[in-house]
Amino acid sequence: MTGRTSIHGQWSSRMAFILAATGSAVGLGNIWKFPYITGDNGGGAFVLVYLLCVLLIGIPIMMAEVLIGRRGRQSPINTMRTLAHEESQHGIWQMIGWSGMIAGFLIISFYSVIAGWALAYVFRTAAGVFAGVTADGAASIFSGLVSDPERLLAWHTIFMVMTMVVVSRGVRSGLEKAVRILMPLLFLLLLLLVGYAMNSGKFAEGLAFLFTPDFSALSAGAVLTAMGHAFFTLSLGMGAIMAYGSYLPKSVSIAKTSVVIALMDTAVALLAGMAIFPLVFANGLEPGAGPGLIFQTLPLAFGHMAGGTLFGTLFFLLLTFAAWTSAISIIEPAVAWLVENRRVNRIKAATIIGVAAWLMGIVTIMSFNSWAFEFTFAGETKSSGLFDVLDILTANIMLPLGGLAMAMFAGWYMSERSTADELDLGEGLLYQGWRFLVRFVAPFAVMVVFLRLLDVI
Ligand code: PFF
Repeated sequence: MTGRTSIHGQWSSRMAFILAATGSAVGLGNIWKFPYITGDNGGGAFVLVYLLCVLLIGIPIMMAEVLIGRRGRQSPINTMRTLAHEESQHGIWQMIGWSGMIAGFLIISFYSVIAGWALAYVFRTAAGVFAGVTADGAASIFSGLVSDPERLLAWHTIFMVMTMVVVSRGVRSGLEKAVRILMPLLFLLLLLLVGYAMNSGKFAEGLAFLFTPDFSALSAGAVLTAMGHAFFTLSLGMGAIMAYGSYLPKSVSIAKTSVVIALMDTAVALLAGMAIFPLVFANGLEPGAGPGLIFQTLPLAFGHMAGGTLFGTLFFLLLTFAAWTSAISIIEPAVAWLVENRRVNRIKAATIIGVAAWLMGIVTIMSFNSWAFEFTFAGETKSSGLFDVLDILTANIMLPLGGLAMAMFAGWYMSERSTADELDLGEGLLYQGWRFLVRFVAPFAVMVVFLRLLDVI
């Protein structure tokens, strides 16, 4: 049973898996989404809930997802079918794989559009467009981009092709090397930005916004968003980490690697927040500016610091790379499934998924201009129409439900013998602690948040 191997190959080492999974986790979610949803949801209390979710729900579910993947060694759908059978459980568990694949398809469709913004900004920054820019100038450059569907389509197309090319070549070649260099560089640039923010005159205010919890500003909707974001940012609940886990050598410790990945992911998000909020306050901007937040604030820093054109170009380039390594993992479950079940090669599989997601991306593109509409969800007004619908449906609903199901499967439906064997933590406190978290704490927390939102409790 445990001697199974994946037909898609294996990571060459523990480090390779950490890099690939960190590449998946660290992306637009950390640098683009975390700051703007923190701004939208009032800061400190939201951040605290997010951190608690990472610790108590995210890390245990990441361990569950990796262990399920490694035990099944196939695409999430087939892994779930095999394990359900092996553990004498109902075949319905493969729904985890199906719903994950659908979530991945929806996520990649908007993820690629936003990654296109980052790509567009590489060229704008390199051309010196932001030199000496004012807050109003940066805002109008951003709105010029998002109100132009043709431009958005062009960048979205380029990004989708980049993703398809890497996925067709297989997750291993290239990815390991790229992440090994780019991840540390991204970290360094974020530190540089935090350094700049320290001198903006509003560093203390930025930190206070991020780290001083004001629970009166915390709605049920904000708690759901914080929890959904913990799943999104750690790439959990849809099978991406399960697929990556299926390529993990048996000798690697799932617990240690999961903790390392979650720590790095959280560090990047917090650094992004520490770079952005001081600038928001120093320039009299609105923390709740929405999805354009980093695209309107960071150009102000790059436009005024020494070497800003160079650093800015590099930053948006790295952001694009971070998005790229995440995008690859988002379509991996579907590609692996097509290869296993439809007997197509990776190139064909990646093309099928890529073209379908590219078409779907048009919905997101139009939602920032012609198709924009407002609606209210959990007491919050959203103004980017279908983009917000897709975001809420995937991050706030499908990923937490997927993660909940994985936690239940690993905690209640797999035998202790199987999970203990995969985790290899012994029978002691660590293993029992994990089991308690996936059996009780994580499912309970996810359910409470949903019930609260539905006004049941
Ligand atoms: N974790 C990625 C980010 O924070 O940008 C996004 C993501 C990747 C979500 C993979 C879901 C996923 F399966």
